[in-house]
Amino acid sequence: MIVAIDGPAASGKGTLARRLAQHFGLPHLDTGLLYRATARVLIDEGRDFSDVAAAVAAARGLALIDFDEKLLRGPEMGEAASRVAAIPEVREALVESQRAFARRPGGAILDGRDIGTIICPDADVKIFVTATPETRATRRALELKGQGAKVDYAAVLEDIRKRDERDATRSLAPLRAAEDAEILDTTKLDVEASFKAALDIVEKKILVPKVHARDAGPA
Ligand code: DC
Repeated sequence: MIVAIDGPAASGKGTLARRLAQHFGLPHLDTGLLYRATARVLIDEGRDFSDVAAAVAAARGLALIDFDEKLLRGPEMGEAASRVAAIPEVREALVESQRAFARRPGGAILDGRDIGTIICPDADVKIFVTATPETRATRRALELKGQGAKVDYAAVLEDIRKRDERDATRSLAPLRAAEDAEILDTTKLDVEASFKAALDIVEKKILVPKVHARDAGPA
């Protein structure tokens, strides 16, 4: 079973993907980390983000495991990743490794911006997780506060709006829900309720064909 989870920054898609992966015992790939890690290589090498050849080399050189999440998770890296992710050549360089991950025996859960539309258009289940920018900014601010950071809510909201705008308007693989994705608006849901709603979507999708198969069994 392949589950594609997409959505804007701080929508909670990562938490949902992790929980679903645990629940179903499936491997999980947070594809945002690929763009974050690519941006990090460019920063560490002192390269400009307009250096397409260096960005492609950085993307191609990534291993899909052992990301230093502490180094990559910060808001500045989110902004840097969004810029790198707007380079079509970088996206193309990362397509095949994501698809190979999805093809693992037994399936996988991937979360990002273009999983249901470009990376796994034939995924068994597609969920587009969303919430208002204000709700997402509040959650992100609380998360940062919890990590001991000094937080300016207005700046967090501005960062989220800017990323939404860039991710949704880039030329290749812009952020959007696949036509056959279920939209999960978590604005009024807490983590537990969001997980239950997502689980419900997955179970309905994977159980319905089985029920039909049983109904169509030998007379
Ligand atoms: O999900 P995230 O916040 O870690 O993603 C960081 C940036 O990477 C995001 O602003 C856009 C980009 N991204 C993307 O373009 N496609 C993906 N599949 C995942 C992330």
